[in-house]
Amino acid sequence: MNEAVLSPSLPKPFDARRAVTLTVKSWFTAAAIGHAIFVVYILAVFYPPIALSGLHGLEGLHLPGGFREGDTLGNLAAVSHVLLAVVVIGGGPLQLIPAVRRSAPNFHRWLGRSYLFAAVFSSIAGLYMTWTRHTIGNLMSQITISIDGVLILVFAFLALRTAMAGRFSEHRRWALRLFMAASAVWFFRVALMGWAMLTGGWGIDWKSFTGPFLYFLGFAQYLLPLAMLEWYFHCQKPVARQHTQIAFVGTLVPLTIFMAIGIFAATMGMWLPRM
Ligand code: HEM
Repeated sequence: MNEAVLSPSLPKPFDARRAVTLTVKSWFTAAAIGHAIFVVYILAVFYPPIALSGLHGLEGLHLPGGFREGDTLGNLAAVSHVLLAVVVIGGGPLQLIPAVRRSAPNFHRWLGRSYLFAAVFSSIAGLYMTWTRHTIGNLMSQITISIDGVLILVFAFLALRTAMAGRFSEHRRWALRLFMAASAVWFFRVALMGWAMLTGGWGIDWKSFTGPFLYFLGFAQYLLPLAMLEWYFHCQKPVARQHTQIAFVGTLVPLTIFMAIGIFAATMGMWLPRM
């Protein structure tokens, strides 16, 4: 009897590499849906008043800084920051869909440039607002979000440099790191609301917006996604061991479930009520 006849009855070995791919695809699908909801929120809440009243459109919004009489530069930074957020949050997931890249390479290039510009400009505006107007939280929140701002600038520079040099596999890695850092503010909102829903807000003083959980999240909003990304890169290498890949899947699955809970909580508790 030959092997082809025997093989259908043999149990298939567990394909850890395939499990990694499937888990990452599920994570990405949930993240892309969550990003799309955040984009709808930004379009619905910030665009109409700014289109109608320019800088004064910031008045009456729930922003901690918002419109400030006499602070033209700060108001301009706030307006451009929230307008460009649509390109960053909407464009990021679109750039990562292989089918879009393959079927519309010109769109991918055009969106890539817009995404880079929006992420860099948003970060500079964010850094300016953080250090010139007291907005939310305390010095710890200012430091943690500023580290994110600097990471975005560094990753954007490296993504651009490697693309211009034609080093595309390096470019892919820097572009993915940029995506994680630029979406950290989204991870922050989703994790905050997911945590509030599951624990009732343990470690958070909502009045001053300080507390141990917020200090942890201040760093985790970018360090955790970036660490998972590096682990994913390792799992894709031919030398990656099966138990490392299984551990990766075992970590990403609960994180994805938590993220899905957070997307639901942020949509119902933060974004929908403000629309
Ligand atoms: C590049 C990715 C970023 C996006 C997409 C983004 C998006 C947003 C959005 C949508 C808001 C409005 C608040 C809300 O409704 O949730 C906001 C506010 C704010 N962001 Fe960002 N942000 C980004 C990065 C940053 C960075 C890196 C900093 C600081 C270094 C920062 C500082 C701020 C500040 C201070 C406000 C409050 C503005 C005010 O009160 O007038 N953001 N951001």
